[in-house]
Amino acid sequence: MKKSLAAAVAALAVVEAAQSTCALVGAETSIDLYTNPQIDYTSEQSEYWSTSCGDLKPSCILMPTTTEEVAAIVSILAANNETFAVKSGGHNPNNHFASIDGGPLISTKNLNQVILDPVTETVRVGPGNRWDEVSAALDGSGYTAVGGRIGNVGVGGYLLGGGLSFMSTEYGWAANSILEYELVMANASVVRVTQSNYPDLFMALKGGGSNFGIVTSYLLQAYPQGDVWGGNLIFDATDDRTTRTRRPASS
Ligand SMILES: *[C@@H]1O[C@H](CO)[C@@H](O)[C@H](O)[C@H]1NC(C)=O
Ligand SMILES: *[C@@H]1O[C@H](CO)[C@@H](O)[C@H](O)[C@H]1NC(C)=O
Repeated sequence: MKKSLAAAVAALAVVEAAQSTCALVGAETSIDLYTNPQIDYTSEQSEYWSTSCGDLKPSCILMPTTTEEVAAIVSILAANNETFAVKSGGHNPNNHFASIDGGPLISTKNLNQVILDPVTETVRVGPGNRWDEVSAALDGSGYTAVGGRIGNVGVGGYLLGGGLSFMSTEYGWAANSILEYELVMANASVVRVTQSNYPDLFMALKGGGSNFGIVTSYLLQAYPQGDVWGGNLIFDATDDRTTRTRRPASS
């Protein structure tokens, strides 16, 4: 009797373990999956702006490389009852916004394309980028996108939150320059959301955060951009009240 109860408990434990998203993704797909303390797991957890977010312990970290892989994860999640999180650059300071304790974390790190099309003047950007990576990819192309003022900020949370930019006085919120979202919906359908085909969803995604699905790429309006000149004004802490500007030595 005791033995069969133990066997039943063990069987139940196997069923429960088999039902976790991490176990199912591991068993049914070839999606990159990391658990504590694998190096990819600990290094991904170290890439948060807030160490408090990085201290949380997801049950596993999933790193899909394609939209189809994200959809496969979502269809497993949808048949499940687990809390999960989606991470782009990990710059959000709040625990659980892009970080998770005990459930699966989906890192968009490998969805990191930056593809400029000068003919249509658009650039397709994956949520796995931070803005410094987008800037580096566009550097020298003659085009720019309305993006973050700090290079360390991730594309995903920034664009889904609206996005203030140095270019906002000219073009508005960064979200105003999004032409299309490639989105994995909660039922794992993949759609390309535009103003004309899903006007309500298109509007909701401009500030709606991660509530309406997982965006796997953004099609942004690109803007022609020449050289940008920058520098610092340094003022001496003296009693002298005359205004002086230090200029860099001319070259
Ligand atoms: C899902 O999980 C939550 C939190 O653990 C629990 O309250 C809820 O009853 C669960 N729902 C189902 C359908 O199992
Ligand atoms: C998923 O949801 C969308 C929006 O409600 C719907 O248009 C689509 O048909 C659904 N897909 C499936 C496979 O049920």
